[in-house]
Amino acid sequence: MSFDDPFGFDSVDLDWLRAKAGAKWHRSHGRQGLLAAWVADMDFPPAPAVLGALSARIGRGDLGYPDWGYPGPRSPACRLFAERAARRYGWQFDADEVRELCDVVQAVQVMLHLATAPGDAVVLHTPSYPPLWRSLAAMGRRQIDVPAHADADGVHFDYDELEATLATDPAKALMLCHPHNPTGHRFDRDELTRLVAIAERFDLVIISDEIHADLTFDAPHIPIAAIPGAAARTVTVHSPSKAFNLAGMRHAVAHVGPPHLRDGLAALPDHLLGAVNLLAAEATVAAWTLGDEWLDALLVHLDRNRRLLADRLAEHLPAVGYRRPQATYLAWLDCRRLGFGDEPVREFRRGGVELSDGNDFGPLGAGHVRLNLATSSSIVEQIVLAMASRASTSGDQPGG
Ligand SMILES: Cc1ncc(COP(=O)(O)O)c(C=O)c1O
Repeated sequence: MSFDDPFGFDSVDLDWLRAKAGAKWHRSHGRQGLLAAWVADMDFPPAPAVLGALSARIGRGDLGYPDWGYPGPRSPACRLFAERAARRYGWQFDADEVRELCDVVQAVQVMLHLATAPGDAVVLHTPSYPPLWRSLAAMGRRQIDVPAHADADGVHFDYDELEATLATDPAKALMLCHPHNPTGHRFDRDELTRLVAIAERFDLVIISDEIHADLTFDAPHIPIAAIPGAAARTVTVHSPSKAFNLAGMRHAVAHVGPPHLRDGLAALPDHLLGAVNLLAAEATVAAWTLGDEWLDALLVHLDRNRRLLADRLAEHLPAVGYRRPQATYLAWLDCRRLGFGDEPVREFRRGGVELSDGNDFGPLGAGHVRLNLATSSSIVEQIVLAMASRASTSGDQPGG
Protein backbone atom coordinates (compact mmCIF):
# COMPACT_ATOMS: atom_id res chain seq x y z
CA MET A 1 0.00 0.00 0.00
CA SER A 2 1.14 3.55 -0.63
CA PHE A 3 -0.20 7.06 -0.97
CA ASP A 4 -0.48 6.28 -4.66
CA ASP A 5 -2.23 2.96 -4.07
CA PRO A 6 -4.32 3.34 -0.89
CA PHE A 7 -6.20 0.07 -1.35
CA GLY A 8 -3.17 -2.03 -2.23
CA PHE A 9 -4.22 -2.97 -5.78
CA ASP A 10 -0.56 -3.38 -6.66
CA SER A 11 0.18 -5.50 -3.60
CA VAL A 12 -1.81 -8.65 -4.32
CA ASP A 13 0.19 -11.65 -3.38
CA LEU A 14 0.42 -14.72 -5.60
CA ASP A 15 0.48 -17.12 -2.63
CA TRP A 16 -2.70 -15.55 -1.27
CA LEU A 17 -4.34 -15.82 -4.70
CA ARG A 18 -3.33 -19.45 -5.12
CA ALA A 19 -4.67 -20.33 -1.67
CA LYS A 20 -8.14 -18.97 -2.51
CA ALA A 21 -10.84 -21.57 -3.12
CA GLY A 22 -12.58 -19.70 -5.95
CA ALA A 23 -12.70 -20.90 -9.55
CA LYS A 24 -10.25 -18.39 -10.97
CA TRP A 25 -7.08 -19.53 -9.25
CA HIS A 26 -8.17 -23.07 -8.58
CA ARG A 27 -8.67 -24.41 -12.06
CA SER A 28 -5.26 -25.67 -13.01
CA HIS A 29 -5.72 -27.96 -16.05
CA GLY A 30 -3.29 -30.28 -14.29
CA ARG A 31 -0.50 -27.69 -14.27
CA GLN A 32 1.31 -26.18 -11.31
CA GLY A 33 1.67 -22.44 -11.00
CA LEU A 34 -0.57 -21.21 -13.83
CA LEU A 35 -1.18 -17.46 -13.83
CA ALA A 36 -4.97 -17.06 -13.86
CA ALA A 37 -6.22 -14.32 -16.18
CA TRP A 38 -9.46 -15.83 -17.43
CA VAL A 39 -12.85 -15.59 -15.65
CA ALA A 40 -14.06 -12.06 -14.80
CA ASP A 41 -13.18 -12.00 -11.11
CA MET A 42 -10.69 -9.42 -9.90
CA ASP A 43 -7.64 -10.35 -7.86
CA PHE A 44 -8.32 -7.69 -5.21
CA PRO A 45 -10.28 -8.20 -2.01
CA PRO A 46 -13.56 -6.25 -2.14
CA ALA A 47 -13.74 -2.71 -0.71
CA PRO A 48 -13.03 -2.64 3.04
CA ALA A 49 -16.38 -0.89 3.55
CA VAL A 50 -18.21 -3.84 1.96
CA LEU A 51 -16.28 -6.39 3.99
CA GLY A 52 -17.01 -4.31 7.10
CA ALA A 53 -20.75 -4.28 6.44
CA LEU A 54 -20.79 -8.05 5.90
CA SER A 55 -18.73 -8.70 9.05
CA ALA A 56 -20.99 -6.40 11.07
CA ARG A 57 -24.10 -8.25 9.92
CA ILE A 58 -22.54 -11.61 10.76
CA GLY A 59 -21.22 -10.24 14.06
CA ARG A 60 -24.74 -9.25 15.09
CA GLY A 61 -25.87 -12.80 14.40
CA ASP A 62 -28.76 -11.29 12.45
CA LEU A 63 -29.22 -13.78 9.60
CA GLY A 64 -32.91 -14.63 9.81
CA TYR A 65 -35.61 -13.74 7.28
CA PRO A 66 -35.16 -10.11 6.37
CA ASP A 67 -37.99 -7.65 6.72
CA TRP A 68 -38.27 -7.52 2.94
CA GLY A 69 -38.32 -10.03 0.13
CA TYR A 70 -40.70 -11.61 -2.27
CA PRO A 71 -43.69 -11.15 -2.15
CA GLY A 72 -43.25 -8.28 0.34
CA PRO A 73 -41.34 -5.04 -0.11
CA ARG A 74 -38.06 -5.29 -1.97
CA SER A 75 -34.67 -4.83 -0.35
CA PRO A 76 -33.18 -1.32 0.03
CA ALA A 77 -30.94 -2.09 -2.97
CA CYS A 78 -33.82 -1.31 -5.36
CA ARG A 79 -34.34 2.21 -4.07
CA LEU A 80 -30.59 2.74 -3.97
CA PHE A 81 -30.24 1.62 -7.57
CA ALA A 82 -32.69 4.34 -8.61
CA GLU A 83 -30.90 6.99 -6.52
CA ARG A 84 -27.51 5.95 -7.78
CA ALA A 85 -28.60 5.82 -11.43
CA ALA A 86 -29.84 9.41 -11.14
CA ARG A 87 -26.63 10.56 -9.47
CA ARG A 88 -24.11 8.59 -11.50
CA TYR A 89 -25.69 8.32 -14.95
CA GLY A 90 -28.28 11.13 -14.91
CA TRP A 91 -30.95 8.50 -15.50
CA GLN A 92 -34.25 9.04 -13.64
CA PHE A 93 -36.88 6.38 -13.06
CA ASP A 94 -39.37 5.26 -10.45
CA ALA A 95 -37.83 2.82 -7.92
CA ASP A 96 -41.13 0.89 -7.96
CA GLU A 97 -40.17 -0.31 -11.45
CA VAL A 98 -37.08 -2.12 -10.13
CA ARG A 99 -37.11 -5.85 -9.46
CA GLU A 100 -34.50 -7.90 -7.69
CA LEU A 101 -33.06 -11.24 -8.86
CA CYS A 102 -30.34 -13.67 -7.84
CA ASP A 103 -27.99 -12.90 -10.71
CA VAL A 104 -27.66 -11.07 -13.99
CA VAL A 105 -27.89 -14.04 -16.32
CA GLN A 106 -30.98 -15.25 -14.47
CA ALA A 107 -32.57 -11.82 -15.03
CA VAL A 108 -31.67 -11.94 -18.73
CA GLN A 109 -33.15 -15.42 -19.13
CA VAL A 110 -36.34 -14.54 -17.25
CA MET A 111 -36.82 -11.49 -19.45
CA LEU A 112 -36.16 -13.51 -22.59
CA HIS A 113 -38.73 -16.02 -21.38
CA LEU A 114 -41.33 -13.29 -20.81
CA ALA A 115 -40.58 -11.15 -23.87
CA THR A 116 -40.01 -13.80 -26.54
CA ALA A 117 -41.04 -17.34 -27.46
CA PRO A 118 -39.10 -20.33 -28.85
CA GLY A 119 -38.36 -19.72 -32.52
CA ASP A 120 -38.32 -15.92 -32.14
CA ALA A 121 -35.22 -14.09 -33.29
CA VAL A 122 -33.10 -11.97 -30.95
CA VAL A 123 -30.41 -9.51 -32.04
CA LEU A 124 -26.99 -9.92 -30.41
CA HIS A 125 -23.66 -8.16 -30.92
CA THR A 126 -20.90 -10.69 -31.55
CA PRO A 127 -18.46 -11.89 -30.30
CA SER A 128 -20.60 -12.34 -27.21
CA TYR A 129 -20.19 -13.09 -23.51
CA PRO A 130 -20.82 -16.87 -23.62
CA PRO A 131 -23.85 -17.12 -21.28
CA LEU A 132 -25.75 -14.63 -23.46
CA TRP A 133 -25.50 -16.51 -26.74
CA ARG A 134 -25.81 -19.82 -24.91
CA SER A 135 -29.03 -18.58 -23.26
CA LEU A 136 -30.48 -17.93 -26.71
CA ALA A 137 -29.42 -21.37 -27.93
CA ALA A 138 -30.67 -23.16 -24.80
CA MET A 139 -34.01 -21.37 -24.97
CA GLY A 140 -34.56 -22.06 -28.67
CA ARG A 141 -34.34 -18.41 -29.73
CA ARG A 142 -32.72 -17.63 -33.09
CA GLN A 143 -29.72 -15.34 -32.98
CA ILE A 144 -29.35 -12.46 -35.43
CA ASP A 145 -25.71 -11.39 -35.24
CA VAL A 146 -24.37 -7.85 -35.31
CA PRO A 147 -20.71 -8.70 -35.94
CA ALA A 148 -17.91 -6.48 -34.64
CA HIS A 149 -15.53 -4.97 -37.18
CA ALA A 150 -12.29 -3.82 -35.60
CA ASP A 151 -9.91 -1.24 -37.02
CA ALA A 152 -7.35 1.21 -35.65
CA ASP A 153 -10.15 3.51 -34.39
CA GLY A 154 -11.94 0.83 -32.41
CA VAL A 155 -14.80 -1.59 -32.75
CA HIS A 156 -17.68 -0.83 -35.12
CA PHE A 157 -21.01 -2.48 -35.83
CA ASP A 158 -22.85 -2.14 -39.14
CA TYR A 159 -26.36 -0.94 -38.29
CA ASP A 160 -27.37 -0.40 -41.94
CA GLU A 161 -26.80 -4.09 -42.45
CA LEU A 162 -28.77 -4.91 -39.28
CA GLU A 163 -31.73 -2.85 -40.51
CA ALA A 164 -31.63 -4.58 -43.88
CA THR A 165 -31.64 -7.97 -42.13
CA LEU A 166 -34.51 -7.06 -39.81
CA ALA A 167 -36.59 -5.82 -42.75
CA THR A 168 -36.75 -9.38 -44.08
CA ASP A 169 -36.15 -11.42 -40.90
CA PRO A 170 -38.09 -9.81 -38.03
CA ALA A 171 -36.85 -10.16 -34.45
CA LYS A 172 -38.57 -9.71 -31.10
CA ALA A 173 -35.75 -8.44 -28.95
CA LEU A 174 -32.33 -6.82 -28.90
CA MET A 175 -30.03 -8.26 -26.27
CA LEU A 176 -27.35 -5.73 -25.48
CA CYS A 177 -24.18 -6.20 -23.46
CA HIS A 178 -23.33 -2.61 -22.59
CA PRO A 179 -20.43 -1.99 -22.07
CA HIS A 180 -19.48 -4.89 -24.26
CA ASN A 181 -17.81 -8.06 -23.03
CA PRO A 182 -15.42 -9.18 -24.56
CA THR A 183 -14.37 -6.23 -26.75
CA GLY A 184 -14.54 -3.56 -24.03
CA HIS A 185 -16.55 -1.36 -26.43
CA ARG A 186 -18.53 1.43 -24.75
CA PHE A 187 -21.62 2.30 -26.77
CA ASP A 188 -21.78 6.10 -27.02
CA ARG A 189 -24.85 8.32 -27.26
CA ASP A 190 -24.98 8.32 -31.08
CA GLU A 191 -24.74 4.56 -31.27
CA LEU A 192 -27.34 4.06 -28.53
CA THR A 193 -29.67 6.52 -30.26
CA ARG A 194 -29.32 4.52 -33.47
CA LEU A 195 -30.06 1.29 -31.61
CA VAL A 196 -33.16 2.79 -29.99
CA ALA A 197 -34.37 4.02 -33.40
CA ILE A 198 -33.95 0.47 -34.73
CA ALA A 199 -35.79 -0.95 -31.72
CA GLU A 200 -38.65 1.49 -32.33
CA ARG A 201 -38.80 0.81 -36.07
CA PHE A 202 -38.84 -2.98 -35.63
CA ASP A 203 -40.69 -3.01 -32.29
CA LEU A 204 -37.96 -4.77 -30.32
CA VAL A 205 -37.83 -5.17 -26.56
CA ILE A 206 -34.33 -4.22 -25.39
CA ILE A 207 -32.71 -6.38 -22.72
CA SER A 208 -29.57 -4.54 -21.68
CA ASP A 209 -26.99 -6.23 -19.48
CA GLU A 210 -25.16 -3.27 -17.91
CA ILE A 211 -23.12 -5.18 -15.32
CA HIS A 212 -19.90 -3.44 -16.47
CA ALA A 213 -21.45 0.06 -16.34
CA ASP A 214 -19.22 1.35 -13.55
CA LEU A 215 -16.04 0.27 -15.31
CA THR A 216 -15.79 2.86 -18.08
CA PHE A 217 -12.67 4.86 -18.84
CA ASP A 218 -12.47 8.28 -20.54
CA ALA A 219 -16.25 8.82 -20.70
CA PRO A 220 -19.19 7.98 -18.44
CA HIS A 221 -21.60 5.15 -19.04
CA ILE A 222 -24.93 6.08 -20.65
CA PRO A 223 -27.71 3.58 -19.89
CA ILE A 224 -29.65 2.81 -23.06
CA ALA A 225 -32.89 3.31 -21.14
CA ALA A 226 -31.88 6.96 -20.65
CA ILE A 227 -32.09 7.58 -24.42
CA PRO A 228 -35.41 9.24 -25.30
CA GLY A 229 -37.98 6.67 -26.41
CA ALA A 230 -36.16 3.69 -24.88
CA ALA A 231 -37.36 3.30 -21.28
CA ALA A 232 -40.79 1.82 -21.96
CA ARG A 233 -39.30 -0.94 -24.15
CA THR A 234 -36.14 -1.62 -22.13
CA VAL A 235 -35.12 -3.89 -19.28
CA THR A 236 -31.80 -2.83 -17.75
CA VAL A 237 -29.99 -5.39 -15.61
CA HIS A 238 -27.29 -4.28 -13.23
CA SER A 239 -25.27 -5.62 -10.32
CA PRO A 240 -22.26 -4.45 -8.29
CA SER A 241 -20.67 -7.86 -8.79
CA LYS A 242 -18.14 -6.86 -11.49
CA ALA A 243 -17.17 -3.34 -10.38
CA PHE A 244 -16.97 -4.31 -6.71
CA ASN A 245 -15.71 -7.88 -7.17
CA LEU A 246 -18.65 -9.62 -5.51
CA ALA A 247 -19.48 -12.27 -8.12
CA GLY A 248 -19.99 -15.03 -5.55
CA MET A 249 -22.61 -13.05 -3.66
CA ARG A 250 -25.30 -13.51 -6.37
CA HIS A 251 -27.46 -10.41 -6.56
CA ALA A 252 -28.87 -8.34 -9.43
CA VAL A 253 -31.41 -5.60 -9.95
CA ALA A 254 -33.45 -4.96 -13.07
CA HIS A 255 -35.25 -1.82 -14.09
CA VAL A 256 -38.20 -3.28 -15.96
CA GLY A 257 -39.54 -0.51 -18.17
CA PRO A 258 -42.29 -2.36 -20.11
CA PRO A 259 -45.39 -2.70 -17.87
CA HIS A 260 -46.35 -6.03 -19.51
CA LEU A 261 -43.01 -7.51 -18.41
CA ARG A 262 -43.53 -6.29 -14.84
CA ASP A 263 -46.95 -7.95 -14.95
CA GLY A 264 -45.39 -11.10 -16.40
CA LEU A 265 -42.88 -11.24 -13.57
CA ALA A 266 -45.59 -10.69 -10.96
CA ALA A 267 -47.60 -13.56 -12.44
CA LEU A 268 -44.81 -16.13 -11.96
CA PRO A 269 -45.20 -18.50 -8.98
CA ASP A 270 -43.62 -16.67 -6.07
CA HIS A 271 -40.78 -19.12 -5.31
CA LEU A 272 -39.88 -19.98 -8.89
CA LEU A 273 -36.99 -17.52 -9.09
CA GLY A 274 -35.74 -18.05 -5.56
CA ALA A 275 -35.28 -15.29 -3.03
CA VAL A 276 -32.48 -12.78 -2.76
CA ASN A 277 -29.76 -13.62 -0.24
CA LEU A 278 -29.61 -11.30 2.75
CA LEU A 279 -25.81 -10.92 2.71
CA ALA A 280 -25.77 -10.36 -1.04
CA ALA A 281 -28.25 -7.50 -0.75
CA GLU A 282 -26.24 -6.14 2.22
CA ALA A 283 -23.06 -6.18 0.09
CA THR A 284 -24.83 -4.34 -2.74
CA VAL A 285 -26.08 -1.65 -0.39
CA ALA A 286 -22.63 -1.22 1.15
CA ALA A 287 -20.94 -1.06 -2.26
CA TRP A 288 -23.38 1.52 -3.59
CA THR A 289 -23.38 3.69 -0.47
CA LEU A 290 -19.80 3.40 0.80
CA GLY A 291 -17.78 2.15 -2.17
CA ASP A 292 -17.21 5.22 -4.38
CA GLU A 293 -13.73 6.03 -3.08
CA TRP A 294 -12.60 2.43 -3.64
CA LEU A 295 -14.18 2.36 -7.11
CA ASP A 296 -12.47 5.61 -8.13
CA ALA A 297 -9.10 4.23 -7.02
CA LEU A 298 -9.82 0.94 -8.81
CA LEU A 299 -10.48 2.76 -12.09
CA VAL A 300 -7.17 4.61 -11.82
CA HIS A 301 -5.40 1.29 -11.31
CA LEU A 302 -7.22 -0.49 -14.16
CA ASP A 303 -6.55 2.43 -16.47
CA ARG A 304 -2.81 2.04 -15.73
CA ASN A 305 -3.02 -1.69 -16.39
CA ARG A 306 -4.75 -1.32 -19.75
CA ARG A 307 -1.96 1.08 -20.79
CA LEU A 308 0.74 -1.15 -19.32
CA LEU A 309 -0.58 -4.06 -21.34
CA ALA A 310 -0.30 -1.98 -24.53
CA ASP A 311 3.33 -1.16 -23.72
CA ARG A 312 4.31 -4.70 -22.80
CA LEU A 313 2.59 -6.28 -25.79
CA ALA A 314 4.25 -3.79 -28.11
CA GLU A 315 7.58 -4.76 -26.58
CA HIS A 316 7.21 -8.55 -26.29
CA LEU A 317 4.34 -9.64 -28.54
CA PRO A 318 3.93 -7.03 -31.26
CA ALA A 319 2.02 -9.43 -33.49
CA VAL A 320 -0.91 -9.53 -31.04
CA GLY A 321 -3.75 -7.14 -31.91
CA TYR A 322 -4.87 -5.18 -28.84
CA ARG A 323 -7.05 -2.12 -28.50
CA ARG A 324 -7.30 -0.61 -25.01
CA PRO A 325 -10.77 -1.47 -23.73
CA GLN A 326 -12.99 1.63 -23.37
CA ALA A 327 -14.64 -0.17 -20.46
CA THR A 328 -14.30 -3.39 -18.43
CA TYR A 329 -11.05 -4.94 -17.19
CA LEU A 330 -11.04 -7.39 -20.08
CA ALA A 331 -8.62 -7.23 -23.00
CA TRP A 332 -9.68 -8.90 -26.26
CA LEU A 333 -6.52 -10.08 -28.00
CA ASP A 334 -6.34 -10.98 -31.66
CA CYS A 335 -3.64 -13.64 -31.87
CA ARG A 336 -4.21 -14.74 -35.46
CA ARG A 337 -0.81 -13.46 -36.57
CA LEU A 338 1.03 -15.63 -34.04
CA GLY A 339 0.63 -18.83 -35.99
CA PHE A 340 -1.11 -20.55 -33.05
CA GLY A 341 -4.19 -21.54 -35.04
CA ASP A 342 -7.76 -21.14 -33.85
CA GLU A 343 -7.07 -21.96 -30.21
CA PRO A 344 -4.15 -19.84 -29.00
CA VAL A 345 -5.44 -20.39 -25.45
CA ARG A 346 -3.79 -23.83 -25.51
CA GLU A 347 -0.37 -22.47 -26.41
CA PHE A 348 -0.54 -19.78 -23.74
CA ARG A 349 -1.58 -22.40 -21.19
CA ARG A 350 1.58 -24.29 -22.05
CA GLY A 351 3.46 -21.05 -21.42
CA GLY A 352 1.88 -20.82 -17.95
CA VAL A 353 -1.10 -18.47 -18.38
CA GLU A 354 -4.77 -19.35 -18.26
CA LEU A 355 -6.77 -17.00 -20.50
CA SER A 356 -10.38 -17.18 -21.70
CA ASP A 357 -10.73 -19.06 -24.98
CA GLY A 358 -11.98 -16.75 -27.73
CA ASN A 359 -13.95 -19.63 -29.25
CA ASP A 360 -16.32 -19.54 -26.28
CA PHE A 361 -17.45 -16.12 -27.48
CA GLY A 362 -18.71 -17.46 -30.81
CA PRO A 363 -17.18 -17.94 -34.28
CA LEU A 364 -15.62 -14.46 -34.34
CA GLY A 365 -13.54 -15.50 -31.34
CA ALA A 366 -11.42 -18.03 -33.25
CA GLY A 367 -7.74 -17.10 -32.90
CA HIS A 368 -8.54 -14.75 -29.99
CA VAL A 369 -8.15 -14.87 -26.23
CA ARG A 370 -9.58 -12.65 -23.50
CA LEU A 371 -7.15 -11.46 -20.82
CA ASN A 372 -8.31 -10.27 -17.39
CA LEU A 373 -6.40 -7.12 -16.40
CA ALA A 374 -7.79 -6.82 -12.87
CA THR A 375 -4.65 -7.73 -11.02
CA SER A 376 -1.42 -6.07 -9.92
CA SER A 377 0.82 -4.46 -12.52
CA SER A 378 3.51 -6.98 -11.62
CA ILE A 379 1.21 -9.89 -12.47
CA VAL A 380 0.23 -8.21 -15.76
CA GLU A 381 3.92 -8.06 -16.61
CA GLN A 382 4.41 -11.72 -15.66
CA ILE A 383 1.43 -12.72 -17.80
CA VAL A 384 2.82 -11.00 -20.88
CA LEU A 385 6.26 -12.48 -20.34
CA ALA A 386 4.79 -15.97 -19.99
CA MET A 387 2.73 -15.50 -23.16
CA ALA A 388 5.77 -14.17 -25.00
CA SER A 389 7.91 -17.10 -23.87
CA ARG A 390 5.50 -19.41 -25.60
CA ALA A 391 5.46 -17.32 -28.75
CA SER A 392 9.23 -17.31 -28.93
CA THR A 393 9.54 -21.05 -28.30
CA SER A 394 7.00 -21.75 -31.04
CA GLY A 395 9.35 -19.81 -33.32
CA ASP A 396 6.79 -18.51 -35.77
CA GLN A 397 5.86 -15.11 -34.51
CA PRO A 398 5.95 -12.69 -37.43
CA GLY A 399 7.41 -9.28 -36.63
CA GLY A 400 5.56 -5.91 -36.68
C1 LIG B 1 -21.66 -9.17 -19.44
C2 LIG B 1 -21.82 -10.04 -18.24
N1 LIG B 1 -23.05 -10.36 -17.82
C3 LIG B 1 -23.25 -11.16 -16.74
C4 LIG B 1 -22.18 -11.67 -16.04
C5 LIG B 1 -22.41 -12.60 -14.90
O1 LIG B 1 -23.33 -12.07 -14.02
P1 LIG B 1 -23.98 -13.02 -12.93
O2 LIG B 1 -22.87 -13.77 -12.30
O3 LIG B 1 -24.66 -12.06 -12.00
O4 LIG B 1 -24.96 -13.89 -13.65
C6 LIG B 1 -20.87 -11.37 -16.46
C7 LIG B 1 -19.72 -11.93 -15.75
O5 LIG B 1 -18.61 -11.81 -16.15
C8 LIG B 1 -20.70 -10.53 -17.58
O6 LIG B 1 -19.47 -10.19 -18.01
